[in-house]
Amino acid sequence: MDRIDKTNLPRHIAIIMDGNGRWAQNHSLGRIAGHRKGAESVRKVVEACRAIGISYLTLYAFSSENWSRPEKEVSALMTLLERYLKSEVKVMMKNNIRLRTIGDTAALPEKVRAVLGDTIEKTAGNTAMTLVLALNYGSHDEILEAVRKLVEQALQGKIGTSDITDERFQECLYTKDMPDPDLLIRTSGEYRLSNFLMWQTAYTEFYFTDTLWPDFREEQLIEAILEFQRRERRYGMTSDQLQKRK
Ligand code: FPP
Repeated sequence: MDRIDKTNLPRHIAIIMDGNGRWAQNHSLGRIAGHRKGAESVRKVVEACRAIGISYLTLYAFSSENWSRPEKEVSALMTLLERYLKSEVKVMMKNNIRLRTIGDTAALPEKVRAVLGDTIEKTAGNTAMTLVLALNYGSHDEILEAVRKLVEQALQGKIGTSDITDERFQECLYTKDMPDPDLLIRTSGEYRLSNFLMWQTAYTEFYFTDTLWPDFREEQLIEAILEFQRRERRYGMTSDQLQKRK
């Protein structure tokens, strides 16, 4: 952790946690055992991000496409989530971590919604780090919903087409009061965005690793942050222009 430059931290890290199933297969276990091990990585990575000083951590815990998995697996993921929230609320309070979600949580099972609501309420005043769980999240849904809101406002005569700016569009997204991710990590050797934060990752640094999510712990997180710190973010400018701005 000492190798990390604290003056150049990603403010927001987003993670596509992938490879639980393959981890289980490699250990001759069922897929659900892989998710259970993955939940342990969630605990460790949240703890490490908080210790490093990351302000926002967004985890892709359940995509809008994940409903099409076998029913048993979907229900095991929901149970894991419920257990995680119940067991971690104390840690979140102790570590001053606020929980929030992005995605259509209305479609989640009642039990999960209840514990989510409780945890969000309890941790609402915490200020050190925001843990964002993407649940029943999909970028296409999010963007289409934003378009619907803007069209509605236009039809009501509240806005004209020239009012549809970047800022106004962002205001209609789940992430409206969050900074965009600086670093996006995907585990398990897959190189896809899988309908995750497509609008918000326009200038994000991507980091792909072959490590399967259940094996991704503090050490691997530090490697990803160090790689981020080696990169130069130019936002469309030249290196010279960037140097002059410093
Ligand atoms: C991808 O592995 C992982 C998921 C679809 C879900 C992520 C869930 C967890 C890490 C556990 C519970 C979450 C929380 C927040 C406690 P995969 O099943 O797609 O792996 P595979 O591609 O190897 O089959």
